[in-house]
Amino acid sequence: MITIKDDDGFAKMRTASRAVAEVLAALQEASAPGVSMTDLDGIAARIIRERDCTPSFLGYHGYPATICTSPNDVIVHGIPDGYRLKDGDILSVDVGAIYEGYHGDAARTFAIGDVSDEVTKLIRATEESMQAGIEQVRAGARIGDIGAAVQQVAEGAGFSVVREYVGHGIGEQMHEEPQIPNYGVSGKGMKLKEGMAICIEPMVNMGDWRTKLQDDGWTVTTADGSLSAHFENTIAITADGVEVMTD
Ligand code: MF3
Ligand code: CO
Repeated sequence: MITIKDDDGFAKMRTASRAVAEVLAALQEASAPGVSMTDLDGIAARIIRERDCTPSFLGYHGYPATICTSPNDVIVHGIPDGYRLKDGDILSVDVGAIYEGYHGDAARTFAIGDVSDEVTKLIRATEESMQAGIEQVRAGARIGDIGAAVQQVAEGAGFSVVREYVGHGIGEQMHEEPQIPNYGVSGKGMKLKEGMAICIEPMVNMGDWRTKLQDDGWTVTTADGSLSAHFENTIAITADGVEVMTD
C-alpha cells in the first residue's frame, strides 16, 4: 500500500521525524568507547517517549528493542546487546518513531575514536550516496533515478551496494510501497508524486555486497566479514516541494 499524505499527515510525520533526528544526535554524542548497545537503546527510548512518540521498531514482527545497533560488519537490524564500543569501531544506528499514527525513520553511521582513512571514506561515500539519491527526488522522478544515483556514488568510490535490503515508502506504516532499491537504471520504475514520502537508505559494504542472516533471525552481516555503513532519511514530496524530515 502507498499512503498519500495531506498537510495533517505530513505535520505528524514531521513531529515523528524530529524526534528521530533528536535521538540520532543524542546517540552520536553518546557513542564512545565503553558505551554499550543497550545503553544507547535506553537513551533512544527515553527521548522518543519524552517527545510523545512511540518506537516504530519495538514489537515490529516481534523485534525486541527500540533501535537497531549494527557495529562493524553488521549491515542492519543488529539487536542492542551488552557489546561495548571500542576505539576504531564503526556503528550504524537506525531509529523509527510514530506520532499520532505517522512514522519517521532514519539511520546514521558513526566512527568511534580513530578509524583508518579507508573507513572514513566508506562512511562518507555512504552518506554522499544517500544525498545523491535525495537530489533525484521530485514529483515525476522515477524510482530508478534514485537507485542509479546512489549506486554511481557508492560504486564510484570503490565500494559495493547491498541488494537484499532496500528503502521504502513510509507514512501510516513504517514500510509501505514502493520499494526504493539502492541500485537501478535511471528512467525506469514507478513515478513519484506529491503526497508520497519515502526512505532512502543505502547500505554500503567495503567488500562484497552479499549478506548473511545470523541465527537470531534479525542481525544481517556482510558475507565476507567486511565493514558496512548505513545512512537513511525520510523524505516527503509536499505541496511546497521536497522535504528531508529527519535531518
Ligand atoms: N528502520 C529499518 C528500515 O529502515 C527497519 C527496522 S525494523 C526492525 O527499514 F524491526 F527490524 F527494527
Ligand atoms: Co527504513
